Amino acid sequence: MESVTDQPDLFTTAGKIADLRSRFQEAVVDAEAAARDKQHAKGKLTARERLEMLVDPGSFVELDEYVRHRTTAFGMDKSRPYGDSVVTGTGTIHGRTVAVYAQDFSTFGGSLGEVAGDKIIKVMELALRSGIPIIGILDSGGARIQEGVVALGKYGEIFRLNTAASGVIPQISIIMGPAAGGAVYSPALTDFVIMVDKTSQMFVTGPDVIKTVTGEDVGMEELGGAHTHNTRSGVAHYLADDEDDAIDYARGLIGYLPDNNLAEIPVYETPFEFETTDADRSLNTVIPDSPNQPYDIHTVIDGIVDPSTGSGTGEFLEVQPLFAPNIVIGFGRIEGRTVGIIANQPSQMAGTLNIDAGEKASRFVRFCDAFSVPIVTLVDVPGYLPGTDQEWTGVIRRGAKLLYAYAEATVPLVTVILRKAYGGAYIVMGSKQLGADINLAWPTAEIAVMGGQGAVNILYRGEIKRAEEAGEDVAAVRTRLANEYTYNVASPFLAAERGELDGIIEPAQTRVSIAKALRALRNKRASLPAKKHGNIPL
Ligand code: HXC
Repeated sequence: MESVTDQPDLFTTAGKIADLRSRFQEAVVDAEAAARDKQHAKGKLTARERLEMLVDPGSFVELDEYVRHRTTAFGMDKSRPYGDSVVTGTGTIHGRTVAVYAQDFSTFGGSLGEVAGDKIIKVMELALRSGIPIIGILDSGGARIQEGVVALGKYGEIFRLNTAASGVIPQISIIMGPAAGGAVYSPALTDFVIMVDKTSQMFVTGPDVIKTVTGEDVGMEELGGAHTHNTRSGVAHYLADDEDDAIDYARGLIGYLPDNNLAEIPVYETPFEFETTDADRSLNTVIPDSPNQPYDIHTVIDGIVDPSTGSGTGEFLEVQPLFAPNIVIGFGRIEGRTVGIIANQPSQMAGTLNIDAGEKASRFVRFCDAFSVPIVTLVDVPGYLPGTDQEWTGVIRRGAKLLYAYAEATVPLVTVILRKAYGGAYIVMGSKQLGADINLAWPTAEIAVMGGQGAVNILYRGEIKRAEEAGEDVAAVRTRLANEYTYNVASPFLAAERGELDGIIEPAQTRVSIAKALRALRNKRASLPAKKHGNIPL
């Protein structure tokens, strides 16, 4: 029992207020000073400093700072720090309320026991109830070893809440330290995972266990560092240079997202030029004359999204730029309203679709669909990447996800075919038949079962053989036949004749045409047959 002699007189109001102040001093001010010493020594910020940076200045409201654990095992009762190992609360980003939590590595290694788990669960439930995004900053040794099954159970509850919140409120995870063991699955269930270069790691089993079980030698960074998860595994959506960069990206993301699945997307007052501009006209020269020559799809994306106003309200915010770069996904604004953009990237693997690209794009389509973000698809795809590796790792099953995602989407879908749209890849990339609302094409579009060169090999095998035998210039014959095929079969005017395209536009008209299409679709209503849930191929 604590002696009450040094305490303020708790039988008076002034005494009770003084008592609150002294407890706040211990729970928050002193605890924060201690955390600062430990974290700054490692070049890291404290949980509270991170949250203060994340939300608008002065907007952070802390919750549950007086929570303390009740564990007695392993001498834990000798150390019962206020707040336990996580700081939770609410704040605003661009003036909009969000729920936040940050694990505090300086307290029990940020590990998650019963009460730390309950704090996270409580703030997640608050976010779900209030329909506001939740952002978690993770920096933790995982389940608190001293608390055993109780700690594991709390993770289970968090995973269940992550799943309940999926498609209801945006969920963002920022990894600013270790996320080990099953603890990685909470971020994995969220919509966006941001990792900080060199200081964050995610893995299910660490280097020591891997060495023991498989004999493999792998370092922590190579196994689960930010670079690995941004480039190889696709677990992360953004590789931040440092903590500031991670926070900027998270704030940027929130600026594009609605508060919840029933809320409107944020709208920014942006002047929109309906006349064709010089910048629009520059799109007329993007497509090279040679079909095999690549170009950077970002030029087209930058040409159709609102320009930056300098206040962070414009530009394209790319998601997962380092993973499957053969497809580009991200958010932009058109007429000040958020759109999700999905575009093949001809400068990477010729813009072919592979398993990684399909999975990257399908998750994005589903996110946009869940949160009423219209989707603009830019198509220049020569087909699926051929190879045993793709077939044996499930390109059929995993590639079907993108078909499923588009076919299921009920948000406005606007598709523009820039150049190649071949075979199954034509269908999957937001085709009319999958449910797109407005499908446009540039005159450079080629829509066919396959490209001209491939088709010539199959259709004109005899003619090419005869040319060879006659000693003719076979390459010239091939090119002539391929051009004929492209003109006669792949011309976008054939698709337009059949109504499979709604229009053919000059590249220079693209920005305004998309804006008008999105205006027309602003009140789109569509629904799917009632069901418990579909069974997307996984
Ligand atoms: C309790 C923990 C802890 C944990 C770290 N600490 N992890 N306490 N439970 N899980 C404590 C340490 O004892 C230490 O306390 C302080 O936090 C800092 O840890 P260090 O080891 O000194 O830090 P560092 O060298 O930076 O190493 C960080 C680390 C390492 C790589 C995260 O601590 C580590 O490997 N921890 C265990 C990771 C792990 O295997 N967790 C269980 C995963 S399984 P003192 O008092 O010395 O400062 C899991 C299951 C989830 O999480 C299941 C969900 C279904």
